[in-house]
Amino acid sequence: MKDVRDIVVLTGAGISAESGVPTFRGPDGLWEGQRVEDVATPEAFQRNPDLVLNFYDQRRAKLRAVEPNPAHLALGRLDAEWKGRLLIVTQNVDDLHERGGAKRLLHMHGELKSGWCLACGARHVFEGKMAGGPPCPACETSGHVRPDIVWFGEMPYRMDEIDAAIATCDLFVSIGTSGAVYPAAGFVQSARHYGARTLELNLDPSEGSIFFEESRMGRAGELVPRWVDEVLGTAS
Ligand code: APR
Ligand code: ZN
Repeated sequence: MKDVRDIVVLTGAGISAESGVPTFRGPDGLWEGQRVEDVATPEAFQRNPDLVLNFYDQRRAKLRAVEPNPAHLALGRLDAEWKGRLLIVTQNVDDLHERGGAKRLLHMHGELKSGWCLACGARHVFEGKMAGGPPCPACETSGHVRPDIVWFGEMPYRMDEIDAAIATCDLFVSIGTSGAVYPAAGFVQSARHYGARTLELNLDPSEGSIFFEESRMGRAGELVPRWVDEVLGTAS
């Protein structure tokens, strides 16, 4: 693609929807059937750890039953073939990007498959349940392991790297996110401020649509492979 060397791609729940992972907002969204304040804040974890751990145990268990879709696979292909710089920043806590081949990937809201210990700070992969308070594999104390999820009111991970990549990218692309949650929702404005071109690929117009120079509406499973073909010059 002409004049484009550095690309930042931001993804949200919409990219995993066609794999069968529920989104957060809208019909059948996770936050329609569950109050955010009950399961996705540090206060909720303090108040009722098992309720919170159960919520994430159920979501973690479902990961094994889902597969990357053509949108994840297309980004995996972009990662393998793009000669310039690329950073894929995901708000998703599933592992479908990595299973779809993405390597230059950052999980800004954490990952379902890991937990960390409030007692010693160690981070570990937890395949099974966390409810009941498993012992920490590092310090062996029980009842202090929490999901490695960035909850409401907490700082997203790796913001310094993300900000730096946005400030220097030529193209910023947002895929499958409602633009309702900051700081991710503000990346498009930073990208434009620093001179990047901006493109949105989403099912419906999002809260952020007005900030993008171009918005294409449709399913990620169709739009993303087509866009990757354009970028790699393999479009027919
Ligand atoms: N293809 C493309 N976009 C889709 C598809 C699809 N098949 N299905 C749904 N979408 C779009 C919706 O139109 C919506 O705009 O994906 C977006 C999903 O929005 P949200 O459910 O709000 O998910 P997200 O933007 O990732 O949420 C941000 O909020 O609760 C927190 O921490 C959680 O990371 C999450 C953050
Ligand atoms: Zn520990």
